[in-house]
Amino acid sequence: MIETAGLTRKFGDVIAVEDLSFAVSEGEIVALLGPNGAGKTTTVRMLSCLIAPTAGRAWVGGYEVHQDPTAVRAIVGVLTETPGLYKRLSAQHNLRFFAELYGIPDPDRRIEKYLRFFGLWARRDEPVAAFSKGMRQKLALARALLHEPKILLLDEPTAGLDPESAKSVREFIAELKGEGRTILLCTHNLPEAERLCDRIVLLRTRLIAEGTPEELKRRLFGSRVVVELANPRPEIVEELRLPGVKSAEHSDGKLWVEVEDPRFVNPILVRRLVELGAEIISVREAETSLEDVYHELMEGDSAQD
Ligand SMILES: Nc1ncnc2c1ncn2[C@@H]1O[C@H](COP(=O)(O)OP(=O)(O)O)[C@@H](O)[C@H]1O
Ligand SMILES: [Mg+2]
Repeated sequence: MIETAGLTRKFGDVIAVEDLSFAVSEGEIVALLGPNGAGKTTTVRMLSCLIAPTAGRAWVGGYEVHQDPTAVRAIVGVLTETPGLYKRLSAQHNLRFFAELYGIPDPDRRIEKYLRFFGLWARRDEPVAAFSKGMRQKLALARALLHEPKILLLDEPTAGLDPESAKSVREFIAELKGEGRTILLCTHNLPEAERLCDRIVLLRTRLIAEGTPEELKRRLFGSRVVVELANPRPEIVEELRLPGVKSAEHSDGKLWVEVEDPRFVNPILVRRLVELGAEIISVREAETSLEDVYHELMEGDSAQD
């Protein structure tokens, strides 16, 4: 549903996005995850035809973005960083204005549907100026959905919201995915990406890595085994240079051993430890958080610059 090939955007000498290629399939929710300045908003602006790519191509719903902007706009709902609502108009008027712009048939029914969906129906006649940030964000989401787009581009939908509002916005996004919509979610919030998304595209100007959260963890860390010892002896790590063992460290009475294929290496590792007089309490696979992966990948990349 969304595809980019070598997508690049420069602003003068600044390269905001470089040679970005990724795809989002129908019904998928993919996170475009990266720190501030990574190029997420620039990517969304290219995908929603607000700015043209400097190089490369992008297709949304089968239409190439800078060749068929009208067709793209009709099937895409966009939530931008600054929702740009009319503060003096009521929630209902804001949506009606947008519905007219889009030529939406039977707008009142749609407006009611989405105001109810986001819990704003009772406040429909109040001016947006009186709304909290969370309510405004929900209204902006309602506006992005009003023309029933199959594809949604959501740029930092929970940024700047209090935890309660952020939680309810996330719940709505999960619900939208349940309806089979295709969603590209830009965020610098790692737990959000992990919780909501099928796949993650890590971006920092260039694509750093992509995969499911599980794949990203595995790719970076391989498998790590934690061996708990009753008689810890830090020097023991020196004796663990075995085939298939990538590294071994000792901390807090535990050995952290990075191995290539645990099914093959663990038996050898355990035999070796027993030979060395280690009293093993337990052997288990170490949990890796995606946060470790994120920092490692982002740091690893800057080392190359
Ligand atoms: N209109 C613009 N003019 C000049 N530089 C820009 C413009 N928009 C974005 N940039 C630069 O492009 C880079 C990526 O920005 P952006 O896409 O907003 O990142 P993100 O959304 O990931 O925080 C930044 O270095 C930013 O300063
Ligand atoms: Mg941004």
